[in-house]
Amino acid sequence: MKVAIYPGSFDPVTNGHVDVIERASNLFDKVIVAVIRNPGKKPHFSLSQRVAMLKAALARGNNVVVESFAGLLVDYARKNKADIIVRGLRAVSDFDYEFQMALTNRKMAPKIETLFFMTDYKYSYLSSSFVKQIAKLGGDISELVPKAVANKLKK
Ligand code: PNS
Repeated sequence: MKVAIYPGSFDPVTNGHVDVIERASNLFDKVIVAVIRNPGKKPHFSLSQRVAMLKAALARGNNVVVESFAGLLVDYARKNKADIIVRGLRAVSDFDYEFQMALTNRKMAPKIETLFFMTDYKYSYLSSSFVKQIAKLGGDISELVPKAVANKLKK
């Protein structure tokens, strides 16, 4: 059974994340969307809000589960018998950070591979930070995030 883990802050989940999750779920037996409990940057949404928005955004009854984790990602992956880490890549600007993270994780856990999904061009510009900024300034985010997130951000 091929289990992949898709980790992130998801603060909040965007349509770009959902696209990566759906594409990964077509390739692997199980995809664990792993929401980091305490990201480096202070999150806008609490852990339970970030998890709830992901659950609301994803289709039910498929091979995707949403969980949370703390500590090292590779430890969490090993515990869940996942040998693939999925990450999305947008522009070149993502590369440095993703490259460093993939190699660091490989150093700690050589048997775990990081696989990158190229973003769909529709989402290549999209980021959780910009979504929050647009919502804060009264802009329309309805085409950028799942409905549950748009409602939450409007509040
Ligand atoms: O959505 P993000 O903020 O880019 O996700 C970053 C995340 C959660 C994948 C990364 O910070 C992470 O894996 N943190 C867990 C701690 C860890 O394993 N650090 C060592 C590898 S860099």
